[in-house]
Amino acid sequence: MGRIFLTSDTHFGHDREFLYGPRGFSSIQEHDEAVIRNWNSVVQPDDTVYHLGDVMLNDNDHGMDCLKQLNGNIYIIPGNHDTKNRLELYKTLPNVKVLESNFPDTVAAGIYFKYRKYLFYMSHHPTMTSNLEKDPYLKAHLINLFGHTHQQKQFYNDIPFMFHVGMDSNNCTPVLLDDAIEIMREEMKKCIDMLDIEETLANVAEEVREGGEVCPTQSNIWTTIARRVKSLFSKT
Ligand SMILES: [Fe+2]
Repeated sequence: MGRIFLTSDTHFGHDREFLYGPRGFSSIQEHDEAVIRNWNSVVQPDDTVYHLGDVMLNDNDHGMDCLKQLNGNIYIIPGNHDTKNRLELYKTLPNVKVLESNFPDTVAAGIYFKYRKYLFYMSHHPTMTSNLEKDPYLKAHLINLFGHTHQQKQFYNDIPFMFHVGMDSNNCTPVLLDDAIEIMREEMKKCIDMLDIEETLANVAEEVREGGEVCPTQSNIWTTIARRVKSLFSKT
């Protein structure tokens, strides 16, 4: 049993500057070649890769030619661009499996997955699965690994248990699950520390006083800080 990697939104063949430009390429050909090269530079044939959707767009022959070149046992959780027809094509490759639904006229959206002491929910779309106030430890949360947003940041709205595995925030390379866990643990620590920093509280207090926007990202961390500041105010 090899190692576990995650990725999403390879978008092979998606000939649009807004896709390959922000990823640092000047053409889709350059993009697709780099994605394949990067993938195979880290993934060995006996490794497992969970691909959280949107494998390819436009020309299916080209997309399949790219998919065929990728190392590893690949498990695909469908994204919005993975049509029924494409899902059938993916399944023709011996090292590729596709998450399926047994319900009529539906597509399976995600899976629960236990690894080490952590519980994950893997899905193409970001999904709110927990709240930060619950516990300061990563293992206390249902961790969402997601794609779809094409964001440059690894976290969804700064939430330390919602990790973007997509190409855009991971140098167009699949992420090792163990590395993602370490990054999330560090971020969780930072968030918890932030809750205790008086300076942070004072800054947010200033915002509250001036009627500014307290929760710019709508993330739990800011909501929590704002709530604490308000409670401090109500005591004085
Ligand atoms: Fe998508």
